[in-house]
Amino acid sequence: MMKILCLLALLPFTIQAAPSRSQIPSEIPTNSRLARHAAKLALEYLIYQSGSPHQLLEVTDVKRATLLEFPFVGHKYYVEFSAQVFETMENIGLCSASVFFLDKKPRPSISLNCSSTKVQKQARDDDYEFYKMMKAQTSPLTGENIPDSYGNIEPQFEPVWKLAILGSSYVILDKSTEEHEYTMAQIRSVRQIPRKDNFIAFSFDIFLYQRPSEEMVPCNLHVVWAPGRPPKVDHSCQDYTENGSGSKAEEGSASLGNFK
Ligand SMILES: *[C@@H]1O[C@H](CO)[C@@H](O)[C@H](O)[C@H]1NC(C)=O
Ligand SMILES: *[C@@H]1O[C@H](CO)[C@@H](O)[C@H](O)[C@H]1NC(C)=O
Repeated sequence: MMKILCLLALLPFTIQAAPSRSQIPSEIPTNSRLARHAAKLALEYLIYQSGSPHQLLEVTDVKRATLLEFPFVGHKYYVEFSAQVFETMENIGLCSASVFFLDKKPRPSISLNCSSTKVQKQARDDDYEFYKMMKAQTSPLTGENIPDSYGNIEPQFEPVWKLAILGSSYVILDKSTEEHEYTMAQIRSVRQIPRKDNFIAFSFDIFLYQRPSEEMVPCNLHVVWAPGRPPKVDHSCQDYTENGSGSKAEEGSASLGNFK
């Protein structure tokens, strides 16, 4: 069991700000865009926290979804869903999550319980192998267009692609609103940044795919990682919601509490 509370400090305020008449959550269709969006975001949180590029997860089925509306404040979704490890399709069981979007604001508050959150041994071993290989690199790894325009990824770049997905989970959590969804689409270029400490680091130029606009949003990610912990991610994206100053990323990194 695992319990994650994000932006806890906001909750008392927002709940107080809601009208006092009692609120009744309404059921929404489990196949609706918003139900899936909430479940996917909750899972991004779990992916980020697992810190394992070899145990990326996907939502298989939303079993139940309710919505609680706080007029002028926001919408709180409660979703129950099943999830699996992307690569092995191994079921990780059921999760229940609440996802609270403040009106028009990015970075929803997420709380999540899943029946299993353990990173599997195989994934841990693969993480460590990748880490060791990157540490041993005599010249820093570089690459571009992963996957290429045919959707192919060369085997040597597979783990780098997965690490970029792990890093992007942080950015997606930071940028998503109730209306806007993001998915990792492509690494345009990647460059390893040599480090003398125990971490490995990469600078990624990526495209995030945004819905409903269907735009490709260019972002730069600086990802610092070692096996067994969430990556530290600084990012700047060039879309209309922010203009790439990067100060938000710093703040965000701190609020997720990585790198204790
Ligand atoms: C998670 O579990 C705790 C303790 O059982 C419970 O209080 C909380 O409401 C649960 N959260 C969700 C989102 O299910
Ligand atoms: C972002 O906005 C700030 C403040 O308006 C401005 O100084 C800066 O040049 C902008 N950066 C970009 C990349 O447009």
